[in-house]
Amino acid sequence: MSQPKNVVVAAPASPSTAMVSVSPSAPTIHDRMSRRGGSIQMHIRQPKVLHPVENEDLKLLLLENISPDAVKALRDQGWHVDHSTKAMSEDELVEKIHQYHAIGIRSKTRITERVLKAAPKLLAVGCFCIGTNQVDLTTASKVGVPVFNSPFSNSRSVAELVMSEVVALSRQYFQRAWEMRNGIWNKQSKGCWEVRGKTLGIVGYGHIGSQLSVLAESFGMRVLFHDVINIMPLGQARQVESLEALLSQSDFVTLHVPELPDTFNMISTPQLAQMKRGSYLMNNARGKVVDIPALIESLKSGHLAGCAIDVFPSEPSANGAPFDNSLNSWASTLCSLPNVILTPHIGGSTEEAQRMIGEEVAASLTRYLNFGSTIGAVNFPEVDLRAITADQRGNVRVCHVHVNQPGVLKLVNEALSPYNVEKQFSDSKGEIAYLMADIADVSPNDINKLKETIKQTKSNILTRLLA
Ligand SMILES: NC(=O)c1ccc[n+]([C@@H]2O[C@H](COP(=O)([O-])OP(=O)(O)OC[C@H]3O[C@@H](n4cnc5c(N)ncnc54)[C@H](O)[C@@H]3O)[C@@H](O)[C@H]2O)c1
Repeated sequence: MSQPKNVVVAAPASPSTAMVSVSPSAPTIHDRMSRRGGSIQMHIRQPKVLHPVENEDLKLLLLENISPDAVKALRDQGWHVDHSTKAMSEDELVEKIHQYHAIGIRSKTRITERVLKAAPKLLAVGCFCIGTNQVDLTTASKVGVPVFNSPFSNSRSVAELVMSEVVALSRQYFQRAWEMRNGIWNKQSKGCWEVRGKTLGIVGYGHIGSQLSVLAESFGMRVLFHDVINIMPLGQARQVESLEALLSQSDFVTLHVPELPDTFNMISTPQLAQMKRGSYLMNNARGKVVDIPALIESLKSGHLAGCAIDVFPSEPSANGAPFDNSLNSWASTLCSLPNVILTPHIGGSTEEAQRMIGEEVAASLTRYLNFGSTIGAVNFPEVDLRAITADQRGNVRVCHVHVNQPGVLKLVNEALSPYNVEKQFSDSKGEIAYLMADIADVSPNDINKLKETIKQTKSNILTRLLA
C-alpha cells in the first residue's frame, strides 16, 4: 500500500477499525511493532456521537462577542447558533430565552432567577470567562442547568505579566518611562538590578504560581514557594515551610492565592516588615489579599523598593470609569508613589487566553449537550461515563437531574430494571444530584415510555435521554 509521508492515522476502514500508517522517514513504535508482529492494524473502539431522543434541533445563543472559534466549534456540531457582539438586558433575555437550549455569555450579561424561570428549554449556561458571579448559580442548579466556565485558561498570561513586572520593578523602567513622557531625561543605574541570581518568592503554587516558577528559573532566578499543601516543585524550585520564611528570603514576592477568609489581608504590616529591605511585592491574585494602606506605609518608609498591583479591593465596573479615592480611599496616594506599577486587572487579558476560554467552554457545552458530562460545571456534581461506542447499537444514555433526597435511586433503578444497565454513576452537590446510566438493547418504542416513567418520579428536575 502506498502511504503519504508523515501521515500517522489513515481514515478508519470501518467504524470500529483504524488503519495506522507511519512516516517512512521516522521509525516509530508502530514501525517496530510492525517489524516484530507483522500486521499493525489496531482495533480502536470509536465513540458514538449521541443525540437527544426528542430530535429537536438545538438552538444556542452566544452574546458578548464570544470568540469566532467557539461559534464555529458549536456550529460544527450541527446546532443553530445565534451570535451577537452585545450583552442583553434582563428584559431582553426574558423575552428571547424561551427558544434556546444553551446560552453563552461573558461578564456583562446577568442570568438571574427571572431569566432562568423564563427559559423552559434551557439545558446549560457557558460563561466564556473566569468568574460566574453574573449567574444565579443556586437557581440554575435547582432548575437543572449546569454552568460551565474556564477558570485556568489564562494562567500563562498572568505568569508572563508577572515576569515583566519583575524586570520593570528591578530596572525602575515604568518610573523612567513616565519621566520621559513628562519631558525628563533621568538616566541612572543606582537601585537598578539584573534579576539573574535574585530570589522570587511565590505565595500559592497552583496553576499560575507553578507556570511562573518555570519562567523565573529560565531568567536565572532562584525560586522559593509557599503553599498550604505540599506540592512537588518544578525544576529547582523549593517549597518553604512558612510564609515568614518565604518573605524573609525573597527579593521579589508574588501572590497567587485565591480569595478566602484565610487570605484576606494576608500581606499586612507584620508581613511587610518580614520582607527584605529593598524587596518588591507583586499582587496579581485578588485585591483583598493585600492591606494597601500598610503597603503604602512600607513604600513611603523605603522598606519596600516598589510594587506592582493588578487587582484592587474595589474595581471600576467599566472601562473609562475613574480609579480614584471615591472607590478606594488611598488611590491617589498609591498613584503618587515612585516605582509603583498599577494595571487595570489585565493579568489574564490576552488574545490567547480568550481563544483558550472559547475552546474550553465550547468543549464543555458540547460534552454536556451531546454526552451528558458535567465535568467542569461549577454548580453541579461532576458526573461522566465512558463513551458508548459506535458498535453498541440500541444503547441509550439516561441523564437524570433530581432533588438530592432518599429513595430516588430505588425508583429510577426500578424503571431501568427491564434492561441491562451497562454502567451507572451518580453524585450530589448540595440540594441536587445527577445520575447517568447507559442501558443496552432498548427498543425505539420503549424510549419515550422509559423517559416518561423517570420524569414522573417526584424528585425529578430534568430527564434527558441520548441515543
Ligand atoms: N490578575 C488576573 O487577571 C488574574 C487572572 C487569573 C487568576 N487570577 C487570580 O490568581 C489567583 C491564583 O490563581 P490560580 O489559577 O493559580 O489558582 P489555583 O487554585 O490554581 O492556585 C492557588 C494556590 O494557592 C494555594 N493557597 C490557598 N490558600 C493559601 C494560603 N493561605 N497560603 C498559601 N497558599 C495558599 C492553593 O493551595 C493553590 O495551590 C486567584 O486568586 C485568581 O483569582 C488573577
